[in-house]
Amino acid sequence: MPYQVGVFVGSLSKSSINRRLAKALERLSTDTDLELQEIPIGDLPLYNHDFDADYPPEGTAFKQAISRVDALIFVTPEYNRSVPGALKNAIDWGSRPWGQNSFAHKPSAVIGTSPGKIGTAVGQQHLRSILSFVNSPELAQPEAYIQYTEGLINEAGEITDQSVAAFVTDWLQKFEVFVGKVVTANPK
Ligand code: FNR
Repeated sequence: MPYQVGVFVGSLSKSSINRRLAKALERLSTDTDLELQEIPIGDLPLYNHDFDADYPPEGTAFKQAISRVDALIFVTPEYNRSVPGALKNAIDWGSRPWGQNSFAHKPSAVIGTSPGKIGTAVGQQHLRSILSFVNSPELAQPEAYIQYTEGLINEAGEITDQSVAAFVTDWLQKFEVFVGKVVTANPK
């Protein structure tokens, strides 16, 4: 049985390079026991805790999508040395209502790309801090900070640099092993 993996793309931009990276992950995952599917975050309203008393259908559907998968991958740009607000908003939705945190014991991994040399490293550290708080066991190594150069990933999600493709494939394979360990330790 392949592991079902929900993918969050932190960018809502139509021309997102992180969406290209997410497509690349989907392509490369065919060589693993991971089955990737996006969990969209763009239509969620802004969370506030008044919703906890009566969760709206969008929030409930979002939480159900998380509960259906075995693991999560976050593919995100860095915005101002953190994660985009849309992604933080989605995590807040998933973490509530109080006592019904959808992320607890759900294994996760973070990856991202940016044109800068440190390729989303600082934003990812913020995200790791958030994921720790919501009790999601995270893949610690390898870290995956991809510097985006022109044409690195085409629109179909093909990575044109074979060394980067090999790195991403290895990262997915290590995540698969990690997911297996966490799922075995915390069966549904
Ligand atoms: C950025 N960008 C950026 N890059 C980075 O390496 N560190 C940062 O802190 C930021 N901050 C930031 C804030 C905002 C509001 C924007 C719009 C952009 C640049 C960013 O890496 C670049 O625009 C990427 O293309 C964004 O990823 P997507 O949306 O193309 O996936």
